[in-house]
Amino acid sequence: MGEKIRVLLTEEEVNRRISEVAAAVSRDYEGKTVHLICVLKGGVFFTCELAKRLTVPVSLDFMSVSSYGDETKSSGVVRIVKDLDESLKGKEVLIVEDIIDSGRTLSYLIEVLKQRGPESIRLCTLLDKPERRVKKEVKVDYTCFSIPDQFVVGYGLDYAQKYRNLPYIGVVDFVD
Ligand code: IMP
Ligand code: MG
Repeated sequence: MGEKIRVLLTEEEVNRRISEVAAAVSRDYEGKTVHLICVLKGGVFFTCELAKRLTVPVSLDFMSVSSYGDETKSSGVVRIVKDLDESLKGKEVLIVEDIIDSGRTLSYLIEVLKQRGPESIRLCTLLDKPERRVKKEVKVDYTCFSIPDQFVVGYGLDYAQKYRNLPYIGVVDFVD
């Protein structure tokens, strides 16, 4: 089985919306330094585009988690593959994710990071699939786009490690 990619959100639409969200983040963190935590690998493109548009001081760290799923579903069991380099003590943490689906990954991650003494912890995502949420307690502070339950790629998101580099968001149609 192969796959075809259909454009859902163009590069212009995505970038315009990221600028709006960056303006909201900059307003909310006025007078503070925002500590962005990029969730690898999917969050990397969004983190860069968001960070470039922030007008408050920014520091950056990276983390990688794996959810023991197959390519299209997460299992709910989450493991830290690469941990942060820096302490979170007293920092204004903003987790930057590519997509919130069931919410399992973020539910786990937020609990782990809260134990490390940040001043505050918020969540910013490029995409959200609210229909798919299992972990209702995951509160998303900034969402660029809410999308229906479709498997998407591009702008950091992959299907079997492919398509992360697409500059737009596309829906994967599986074809024979
Ligand atoms: P959750 O734990 O179910 O919220 O899953 C979040 C992770 O699943 C994301 O960080 C992605 O890596 C992956 N994921 C969920 N939906 C999609 C999708 O539509 N395309 C690509 N990856 C996805
Ligand atoms: Mg991810």
